Amino acid sequence: MSLATRNTELSSTVVQVLPPMTARLAAAGCENPRLDAELLLAHVLETGRSGLYADSRRVLTVDEGEALETLLARRERREPLAYILGEWGFRRLTLEVDPRVLVPRPETEVVVGRALAAIAPLTEPCVLDVGTGSGAIALAIADEHEGARVTALDSSAAALEVALANAARTGCELEFLCADLFDGLPAGPWDLIVSNPPYVLPDEIGALEPEVRDWEPRVALVGVGATEAIARAAFDVLREGGVLVLEVAYDDAARVTSFLRGLGYRDLVVTRDLAGRERVVECTRP
Ligand SMILES: C[S@@+](CC[C@H](N)C(=O)[O-])C[C@H]1O[C@@H](n2cnc3c(N)ncnc32)[C@H](O)[C@@H]1O
Repeated sequence: MSLATRNTELSSTVVQVLPPMTARLAAAGCENPRLDAELLLAHVLETGRSGLYADSRRVLTVDEGEALETLLARRERREPLAYILGEWGFRRLTLEVDPRVLVPRPETEVVVGRALAAIAPLTEPCVLDVGTGSGAIALAIADEHEGARVTALDSSAAALEVALANAARTGCELEFLCADLFDGLPAGPWDLIVSNPPYVLPDEIGALEPEVRDWEPRVALVGVGATEAIARAAFDVLREGGVLVLEVAYDDAARVTSFLRGLGYRDLVVTRDLAGRERVVECTRP
């Protein structure tokens, strides 16, 4: 007997399956159970969220019910929605994501906004993204600044495979570099160096949500001294007047700002994310 036949809750109409799905995801501790339920159902039915409501009396087939049950069970185990859907929106792009890479976050869209503002006056800026992961920052910059020549660096060969697939998928051209940021940064001169480095401290990881703690790559999250190493190395390879843009932990902007000032950077700017937290620090190499 198929799962869907046994589980009548997930083999009825669109409007009928959403409440029990939502209840199961809420019981599992998911933060936005209704939204997750809608996105999973829309994924199985190959439509959008609005499509669900346009055809809300549609009866799910047995195959659809089974597929839905599989995805729902994955989400109940707190696997990130982005990994289950296999793709995630970032600025104007839809990127492939899987457990090889961090899921791109809304605050990182703010990082890209600041980076684009820094290179806006330049026709062909040379840009380095340190710790590119899915390629989110590098690709969004290449997508939104026509002349930008962007290099994407990561120490994870697995992450670079995803970034490469995303470059092919989006049609954005990048240079890729598999390297360890603690070995220094590639010779510039760079007009812009941008990074969302790993900044979770080893003793903080246990307190994070299961989606992050149990599923996202540890190398993308935990990092001691990565921000400082990037800042030191960037000073040597940025051109004069070149800009460094860094994402920082929600409570770390003041400390990072003072560290950057101590290295000799000037024109320090802190930008808040959409939740009002100080998440982006930028500065200029004199
Ligand atoms: C927080 S994730 C950022 C991913 C992506 N830039 C984003 O914002 O979604 C940090 C990235 O840095 C990479 N990384 C960690 N340690 C590194 C190191 N020592 N050298 C180079 N890359 C490193 C990880 O593999 C991961 O892709």
